[in-house]
Parts: sequence; structure tokens; C-alpha cells
Amino acid sequence: MINTAALPVSALSEDQAKAELARLAFEIGFHDRAYYQNDAPEISDAAYDQSRRRNSEIEARFPGLKRADSPSERIGAPVTGGFAKVRHSRPMLSLGNAFKEADVADFLAGIRRFLKLSEDAPLAIVAEPKIDGLSAALRYENGIFVQGATRGDGEIGEDITANLRTIADIPQSIAGAPDILEVRGEVFMSHAAFAKLNRRQRDAGRPEYANPRNAAAGSLRQLDAAITAGRRLGFRAYAWGEVSALPGATQSAVLAALESWGFQVQAHEICTNAAQMTAYHAAMEAGRSKMPYDIDGIVYKVDRLDWQDRLGAASRTPRWAIAHKFAAEQAQTLVESIDIQVGRTGKLTPVARLKPVTVGGVVVSNATLHNEDYIAEKHISVGAVVLVQRAGDVIPQVLEVVKPGAVPFEFPMTCPACGANAVRDEGEVDWRCGGGLICAAQAVERLRHFVSRNAFDIDGLGEKQIRAFFEAGVVRAPADIFTLQHRDGMEGRKPLRDWDGWGDTSAENLFAAIEERRIISLDRLIFALGIRHVGQGNAKLLARRYETKDAFEAAVSGDSLQELLDIDGIGEKVAKALLAFFADDHNKDVWTALVAELRVQDMARADTTSPLAGRTLVFTGTLEQTSRAEAKVRAEALGARVSGSVSQKTDMVIAGAAAGSKLRKAQELGVKVIDEAEWLALIATSNSQ
Ligand code: IVH
Repeated sequence: MINTAALPVSALSEDQAKAELARLAFEIGFHDRAYYQNDAPEISDAAYDQSRRRNSEIEARFPGLKRADSPSERIGAPVTGGFAKVRHSRPMLSLGNAFKEADVADFLAGIRRFLKLSEDAPLAIVAEPKIDGLSAALRYENGIFVQGATRGDGEIGEDITANLRTIADIPQSIAGAPDILEVRGEVFMSHAAFAKLNRRQRDAGRPEYANPRNAAAGSLRQLDAAITAGRRLGFRAYAWGEVSALPGATQSAVLAALESWGFQVQAHEICTNAAQMTAYHAAMEAGRSKMPYDIDGIVYKVDRLDWQDRLGAASRTPRWAIAHKFAAEQAQTLVESIDIQVGRTGKLTPVARLKPVTVGGVVVSNATLHNEDYIAEKHISVGAVVLVQRAGDVIPQVLEVVKPGAVPFEFPMTCPACGANAVRDEGEVDWRCGGGLICAAQAVERLRHFVSRNAFDIDGLGEKQIRAFFEAGVVRAPADIFTLQHRDGMEGRKPLRDWDGWGDTSAENLFAAIEERRIISLDRLIFALGIRHVGQGNAKLLARRYETKDAFEAAVSGDSLQELLDIDGIGEKVAKALLAFFADDHNKDVWTALVAELRVQDMARADTTSPLAGRTLVFTGTLEQTSRAEAKVRAEALGARVSGSVSQKTDMVIAGAAAGSKLRKAQELGVKVIDEAEWLALIATSNSQ
């Protein structure tokens, strides 16, 4: 029998190549586990690398034979596809930020106002470190760990159960817990584990990780849990999702229960005023370098859970918690060059390419310079030594010039991508490429935005693939993505599976990922269009207001400026940008072609069973039991719209003490008026509080 392992790649037949790929997948998998999981490699790095090279060479010669579990897809690089999606039982929120003492005072004052607490009513706040890691949700059913997920976009995460099972801090089973318990917390890599991992990477000639957070992220997103196991991650619990019976009435009581069930929780302190909070913050900031893991601030949370419930959340951040960040870390370095990036709306952004420097544990080599004026004001130029600052996940900033460069920087008058003249309108700070729809850089950026995580979120279609498809001419506009499979191998082109870097599996996976996204929610669709000023928040507001694609299309295609402005939260800039976008024939064509390929899901109504659904309410006068803000949130949760003025369209006016002109107007128009007590009774009987 021939020993295929001894044959040169060029001499392999197709069948032999197939057998070789199977053998190599097994062998490399075995050595990965020995290396990563058991810290006990059985072969030299050179021999290991040789196996991997051989595997890649065979795949390059026979792209169609590439295996689903190919080692070339696995190690080191984080995997983008491959995890099942998980819908969170309750959204995983993020936190608003406080940077200075006044922000902390505002946070407390806001809570008192919302809850109608007097100045001197006790208000207990739990303070604990904010870990710079990744949040995860762990679901236990009848005490057994059944599923773990990443945060994802807050609504849908990825199923990383197998990887989370390898973390020693996460109990596999717990005694005495409620039947359903979803524990949330942070996955992180300690400084010690990070140093050890990077030493191993260095010794093996692999790239090092920039910081513990990136290393933790890379480790958690491995398709092979054996690799995660070797990375020694930690977990601290600090929050929860669905729980069948809460074990306490305060944040601190639930933390104690979590600890009793075997979770690690961080040391925390209960504060009763701003002075105590900022003192805790200062002490932790001073001692931050002695912590075993990275922390980037302090999180404050209202201790009483009934108050947390009442406070609720505004868009994606709770009103009952805030992150008080530590001061950013700074360092000096040299500006090696200044590049101009072209954004999806044509904005030209100058970027400093820096001599790499470590700032607070992270290597920084780029910093945004924002615009022409920013560069001029700070006298930034190539060859200058500058002070750079990094704060958490914020893009690094150039603060000031320490030593000027020889030649002042001149902003280019043309687009570096398409050569069209750059324009800077009066009153604007940005230069924009005048190339419009002919500028390839803008088109690519628009497509990148279209497939990005909070938009269509198509697995396996990132910057690299978009660029390649665009350059090959197969994807020029969003609709082309959805006809890609149908046109594959036509128009005189090779089928995707035969393209460089692609194979049967990766092409099929991409087509499947695209198919999955043919059904899309209205808010994602609106956001994906990449209209100026229309971010995720505004897209949600529009989708909630119009509910269906057709209603939205009708509104933005017509002369409906006032109607758009009537949407709470939509301002003039946004409304005008929307109308301008749809007034453009090309954009309209892009939209029409796109929606013809999609099934757009209608936006669910807030609550159609509530008696307040779809009603327009006006609050007036002084409410005694709740604040205006809380009343508005309650009303909206029950599907009502809250307006500031009384008109024919008003369904009900809630009149507090000393109500004046609005009450009179309501009486004139014959609009129904109720008092605060009737209002409270009404919302108490509505089932969905
Ligand atoms: S509480 C609804 N506590 O910070 C509140 N978050 O910037 C849920 N984080 O997404 C979060 N340490 O990943 C909370 N002690 C802590 C935290 C913490 C780190 C992360 C978490 C969150 C992010 C928000």
C-alpha cells in the first residue's frame, strides 16, 4: 500500500488528497488539544507547522475537498461563522457612562426625580468594579447549566455553551437555585493568564494579543472548545436575565445568593450618597494596577429591585445603573503619516498612522484626527511627537503636539479613492468626496455598513469579501447580495467555490447565511441603508412609528416633513436626510430592487391588548405619586403615544394638580379627562406593566 503521507502534494490524486486531508485534520486536532488543553505538546513546533502547511497546500490544489472541520479554519483566528444564534430572554443592556463627579450627582438626582424621592429619602447604591471583558448569559434549568451565550447585539447572541463549560468559575450544576435561572456576568482573562498565553504565542512564532480583552474574545469565539479550555478564562457574576423566583429584593441580596450557589461575585460596597461613591471610585482607581484583571471603571446600581423595575431602561441603557469610568491612559509617540479615509457618505476622515506605542496595556498605531480644523488647531503634522489617549473601547485620540513636525499638514483637495474634487460646505467641518455614486470607496463602505452586525449581519461577508465582490463586479448594490447565488458561475465568471480562498463549504455557508437574512426586521432594514444621521436608535423610532415597510416607504417618498417631525425623537436633520435620500432616483432604485428580494417583517405593536394601545395621551399639571418621566414611560409601554399638546387627535388628558390651559382646551374639545388616581388605577388594571 502507498503511504500517502510521504507523497509530495503535487503527486496526490484526488482520492489520495481527500484521505490526506482527513488524516491531517485528525492529527492537527490531536496536537492542538495536547498543546492548548493539556499544555503538553507531543511534537515540535516545526513538525506541527509542517503539517499545517501541507494541509493548506493540499487545500489550495483541491479547493473543492476542503473539509468543514478544516484546521486552516480553526486555530488562532477568531471564527466568524459556526455558532448558533440565541435570542435572549430579556435584552442584555449596556451602561451609560459617567466621567466626572457632576455626572454621578446627575445620575442620583435623575433617579430621585424619576421616583419622586425627596432629597433626604435613603437611596442605597451598590458599587463594584467594571471588568474590561465580555458579557455572557448562562442559563440553568433545574440547577443544570444548559446554555451559554454571548451578548451579541443585546437581543440575539451566539451559543457558546461548549466554550463556557471550560471555564472553572462557571458551575456545571448548582443546588438550591430556582428552576429557571439565567446568570449574567463578565468573561475575562487575568493578567497572569494573558502573559502566559502571549509567551506561548511568541515561542510558537504566532502573533501576540494586544490586550487581555482581545485575548478573551478570541478565546471565547473558538469553534474548538479545547482551545478555549487552554486559555484559562475567568467569570464574575453581576446581573441576571430570566429567573423563575428571585432570591431577594435587592441587588446585594441577589449577589449574596449567587455567591451561595457557587458563582464568583466581586467585592462590592453599598453607598448612600455621591461622596461615598466617588471615594470608592478614587480608591479603586488608585489600586487598579493591583487587581488581577483589567477594570476600567466602577458600576453603580440602585440596590432596591422594585426601584430598578420602575426606573426601567431608556433605549439600550438602564436608568438604574451607570458606569463611572476611570481617567484615560496616555502616552507619547511619533506621527509617521496621515492618511485620508473615505466613509460611506463621502466624509473624508484624516487618520494618523502612529509609531506603535502601548497605552494602558493596548498597542495603539492609529488615531482619528476628525477633520481639517482639528489638525490645524492642534498643529498636528507628519513627524510630530504627540500625546495620545485611550479610554476603554473608544478610538484613540491625539490630545496635543509635544514636539512639532517640520512641515504643516495640507488637507488634500481631491478624494484619494476616486480623484473627484473634495467639497467643504459652509458651516460644515468635514470635507466630502464630490464623486457621489461613482466613488468606489463610498460604495464599498455603504455595502460594508449594509452587512455589518447591527444591520443585515451576514456571517462570512465582511470587509474582505465585500471588497473582492465589488472589485469583481458581482456586488455593486445591496440587492446584488441576494441574487449572488442565482448568478453564481454565470456572466462568464467562475463559480464562487473556485475563487481564491473559497471552497465548496465556504461558498455554501455564505449562500445559506444570505438566505437566512432574506427575512429582516424593518428597523434593521432602515438602519442598513446607511442614510446620514439615521443610526440604530432613529431606525427603531421610524420602524415603530410606521410598523410596515409600505407605510414607511409611503411616508419618506412623499412630502411628509411635518409627519416625520412629529415622531418623538426625530429632529429636522434626520427628517430632511431621509427625504433627500428617497428623493434621489438612484437611491429609490436601490431600495426598490432590494425590497423585491426581501421579506420585511412588520414591527410588532407595543401591546395591542392594552386599552391604551394606539391612544394619544397628554399629561398636564403636577403629578403627586409619580414623575412625568415615569408616567410617560408607563404609558408608552402600554402602547400609548404621549403628546405635549391637546388637539382633536388627543384621546385622553391626565390632569394633575393645578392643571391650566391644556385642561381647559381638553374640556372645550370634549376630550376625556381623568385625574392622577384614575390614571394609576387604569395602569394597575392593564396587564403588561
Ligand atoms: S451591569 C443592565 N456590572 O459593561 C446592566 N456590567 O458598558 C448590566 N460590565 O455590557 C451590566 N463589569 O459587559 C455590569 N460589574 C459590572 C460590569 C459590567 C463589566 C460590562 C458589561 C456591560 C458593559 C457596559
